[in-house]
Amino acid sequence: AQGDLKRPDTLKFEAVAHSTADTMTVAAGYKAEMILPLGTPLNSGIEDWKDNREQSAESFEWRMGDNHDGMWFFGKNGNAYDAKASENSLLVMNHEYVNSSELSPFGYYVTQDNDAAPIFQNRRLASDVRREVNCHGVSVVELTRRADGMGYEMVPDSKYNRRITSSTTAQLAGPVAGSALVKTKFDPTGYQTRGINNNCGAGLSPWGTYLTTEENFLGVFARGQDASQLSAGDNYARERYGAVEDFPGWEYLWHTPEAKDAKIADEFSRWDMTAVGASAAEDYRYGFNTFGYITEIDPFDQNSIPQKRTALGRFAHENCAYAPVEQGKPVVFYMGDDARGEYIYKFVSKAMWSNSDIGGGLKSGDKYLNDGTLYVAVFNEDGSGEWKALVHGQNGLDAFNSVLPFNGQDEVLVFARAAADAAGATKMDRPEWVSVSPMTGDVYVTLTNNKYRGVRDDQPVSASNPRSYQSNGKALGNDNGHIIRWAEAGGDHAATSFEWDIYLFGAPSDLSAENLSQLSDNNDFSSPDGLYFDPRGVLWIQTDDGAYTDTSSCMLLAALPGKVSDGSMTTTSAGQSTRVGTSASNDNIKRFFVGPEGCEVTGITMAPDFKTLFINIQHPGNTWGAVAGGSIPRSATVMITREDGDVILAESFDTA
Ligand code: FEO
Ligand code: CA
Ligand code: CA
Ligand code: CA
Repeated sequence: AQGDLKRPDTLKFEAVAHSTADTMTVAAGYKAEMILPLGTPLNSGIEDWKDNREQSAESFEWRMGDNHDGMWFFGKNGNAYDAKASENSLLVMNHEYVNSSELSPFGYYVTQDNDAAPIFQNRRLASDVRREVNCHGVSVVELTRRADGMGYEMVPDSKYNRRITSSTTAQLAGPVAGSALVKTKFDPTGYQTRGINNNCGAGLSPWGTYLTTEENFLGVFARGQDASQLSAGDNYARERYGAVEDFPGWEYLWHTPEAKDAKIADEFSRWDMTAVGASAAEDYRYGFNTFGYITEIDPFDQNSIPQKRTALGRFAHENCAYAPVEQGKPVVFYMGDDARGEYIYKFVSKAMWSNSDIGGGLKSGDKYLNDGTLYVAVFNEDGSGEWKALVHGQNGLDAFNSVLPFNGQDEVLVFARAAADAAGATKMDRPEWVSVSPMTGDVYVTLTNNKYRGVRDDQPVSASNPRSYQSNGKALGNDNGHIIRWAEAGGDHAATSFEWDIYLFGAPSDLSAENLSQLSDNNDFSSPDGLYFDPRGVLWIQTDDGAYTDTSSCMLLAALPGKVSDGSMTTTSAGQSTRVGTSASNDNIKRFFVGPEGCEVTGITMAPDFKTLFINIQHPGNTWGAVAGGSIPRSATVMITREDGDVILAESFDTA
């Protein structure tokens, strides 16, 4: 029946119950299998993973990295991408971050070489840092259909199998390439940097390349006391991205290994943005500015260099979703900046779409992603919205700006957050994944939660971010998150105005004051994060939740949403006016899968024949994913098939 599947109105599988077990649960009639856990060798020359925290740093250049996240299934036909091919594929996925204590005997603790007992010394071992650097980034894995016709297995030693890590050379492409703001000791001309980092959500380009995102790169950088060496603008711009003076980074301390020679010093000092040299060409003060980009990878060209597409702005990128392309129209990408009170963006290419660019690899990327207009979203109180262009010379983005002077488009893009502040964008409740409905063209974004909403003066409740929990009269922020959506004016994704409503509010079903979408035991959830419309119009929602995990671990739900115009103005129990879509029902949103205790369910892609759904289990608790008899839990991919081999959700699509 493939090819003429019409989206049904109801979901017919039996909803999966809440679970806090160590195992995963999938809807009856389906099978969920773990594949490609942390450390899996991609080539036969690499030893199998052992449960001993002793895999070498170098071996991770050929092993699956840690914390699997966004991914995409690239159908493969011969040596080329084929969007319809399901027998063979390149599965490309992100490794977002590392659980240090599961990779090394010393974990976050640090000792001098040969010390038996770990001692916290604020200085890490070079070998531990190298291992962590190599556990980040992206894996490309060739898959082939298993002999029984169900699901896939890895092709070991495939020429396509590849790791890209936080030490792989990457190219800066677009308006920021060569800017004074990205010149470093590594490349004083400002065209190259080392590494991609904290790759979170993922996207596909319409021409068949992989778009990975750099989210929490802040955490691996440190900054000393250098305010007096920098301009006021430089200081402000760093702080707007969280790098305050004397900032130690998060717990990684990648800048700290002892340097026995200049080469080793350079390898680690690049994670320290402190201005220590006489100029940017002598230190890594601007290394920080070379991260935070949508990065394009051509999985079919194993020698290709990842391209950081700077025209799409620098921020904590979650994922990147394109709008349906039309011959002769610009290509449009939607993106969220996942931090509390950050913004939603879109990029409209200058080049007009041509179907002949499919399969053109990074050359097509050069055409569509290096030149265009970046916009940021304003959500008005009445359900209307506007896109503000982040273009030098417009919307106050010039050298006279009182917050941060902008001297060119490179500065607007590197400091996109500050530019968006100046343009008057709306501060959202942590924008995570974006997905565009193939049924209606409406754009959906998960707003996962925000403990500052209604708590901090700069983030008051508003129509588009309408909830802040109240307990004993005290505002506690938005704990459970919501999913906002909009329709571009005239159905044109390049339009500069739109109409929005809130599709769904996360909430425990028994918390009536907050359960604005009337969720039940069959579909209640908290903190939506991963989001994916499959090509049939089914919306898959994943959670990364801390607020409701006493009742249920993180999950995957299936939904059949309506459209934006279903929404009407309403008032929350706290008296906030907002615009809410048609309520969820037990028929049109159901829990499909619950992950093991402690995990986040993230990353999602489907084979083109709809028979295999891939999701990722990130940072599981207990011993999920450990080798037999082992104790180290491991992130992994989960492959879901129907026991009868039919398409996923066949019971709903079969209307005969
Ligand atoms: Fe990496 Fe915002 O999730
Ligand atoms: Ca996420
Ligand atoms: Ca999250
Ligand atoms: Ca995560």
